[in-house]
Amino acid sequence: MQHIEFESVSEKVIRQIKKGAFLTVQAGDDLNVMTIGWASLGYIWGRPIMTVLVRKSRYTFGIIERSSEFSVSVPSVDMSSQLAFCGSESGRNVDKFKECSLEIFPASRIKTPIINVPGIHFECKIVYKSEMDPSALVESYKHLYPMKDYHTIYYGEMVHTYSTEGEAEEGLN
Ligand SMILES: Cc1cc2nc3c(=O)[nH]c(=O)nc-3n(C[C@H](O)[C@H](O)[C@H](O)COP(=O)(O)O)c2cc1C
Repeated sequence: MQHIEFESVSEKVIRQIKKGAFLTVQAGDDLNVMTIGWASLGYIWGRPIMTVLVRKSRYTFGIIERSSEFSVSVPSVDMSSQLAFCGSESGRNVDKFKECSLEIFPASRIKTPIINVPGIHFECKIVYKSEMDPSALVESYKHLYPMKDYHTIYYGEMVHTYSTEGEAEEGLN
């Protein structure tokens, strides 16, 4: 597993996350995966940080709140049906790993596992979190929260970033 600098893959990663990526969380025996479409990558506090946004209604929220880490897997092959499933079904009701035939493998620097798909993987340790303050949200974005189901933003230090793309780079665009 070759460590890579996130800067070297950031453009394609950002483009793919916009279409969907896997966020995996674990706390004790509770393990879940959900699709994310909103995230950012860059330097904060002088460290490489990825932010992910999780609404309180998600099963994932109850798990990540009891954890101090998460992993993100950005597929480089077409996984649109699995991303659609993990982005609409809840881990409260179904085992998404089983239903989508998603295998996992152990991470190297965190306890939360990694989804075994060809792509770029991020092992992240949560260094900060912030609940959205609706009163600070610009009026023109408020339509994104009709149920007032606001996000909590998790800031994860990317402690290990690597590729399992092999030769097949072309799928990630
Ligand atoms: C393309 C796509 C992107 C999504 N992005 C997010 C996101 O960034 N944050 C979020 O809270 N939910 C997002 N969702 C919705 C969750 O993935 C969805 O509600 C999921 O069923 C939650 O699963 P859980 O209850 O097992 O946590 C997205 C869904 C799709 C299809």
